[in-house]
Amino acid sequence: MKITVDGKVLEVEEGISVLEACLQNGIFIPNLCFLKERERPHASCRLCFVQVEGMPTPTTSCTLPVKDGMVIHTNTPEVRRLQKTAFKLIMSGHPCHAKTCPVGKNCTLMKIAKFLGVGLGPKPYERLDREMPDLIDFGFMYYSPYRCVLCAKCIHVCKTQNGKPLLTFARRGFETIVAFFQDPLENTEEKCINCRACTNICPTGALVLKDTENVEREDEAQTA
Ligand code: SF4
Ligand code: SF4
Ligand code: FES
Repeated sequence: MKITVDGKVLEVEEGISVLEACLQNGIFIPNLCFLKERERPHASCRLCFVQVEGMPTPTTSCTLPVKDGMVIHTNTPEVRRLQKTAFKLIMSGHPCHAKTCPVGKNCTLMKIAKFLGVGLGPKPYERLDREMPDLIDFGFMYYSPYRCVLCAKCIHVCKTQNGKPLLTFARRGFETIVAFFQDPLENTEEKCINCRACTNICPTGALVLKDTENVEREDEAQTA
């Protein structure tokens, strides 16, 4: 089937989302929670808005299946306004220290900030006051709640690895964090040491292996 994106006609396969079709064709749409293998999109980051002709308002492209003849715009002023607002909300709970961050230049947030032409540091955004530690010891890895954007990718890949996930979301609202179902200090070593799927997929460096401990500690001192 054919769709048109920003004036370009694309041949795309049936059953995929508009986001996937665009990414496959080199058209970047900001996204944090999209994972191709997921049956149902998590759709939590609210970054992937597009405008489809015939629809009254922009919609999230990860939840929108392609339809033959669809005409899509990825860069209207309203789309950009919504994306910047969503990004601002994410960054308000995610104070960034790019120089000491373990993911460094591979950071997805950095890529999105550059794409949207907005700042990355915590200064332009109000920091949400949340009752949570800067760093949690997860056995062979550390988890930094302030870096976590709650995309759930780690939970999904853990489920794929183990049949059922060792990880889950705990607490509620702005204080939601990733946690282990069981005590990670006793349970991660055996299953996790040869896996590392969650630390590999995390887009923000919220989950890192302990061999980056020194970098983490330096960062922690700055966010405290
Ligand atoms: S390392 Fe693998 S098994 Fe351990 S929590 Fe992460 S994804 Fe799950
Ligand atoms: S730890 Fe990383 S992968 Fe997991 S929800 Fe947070 S940001 Fe997403
Ligand atoms: S990628 Fe669509 S809402 Fe996150």
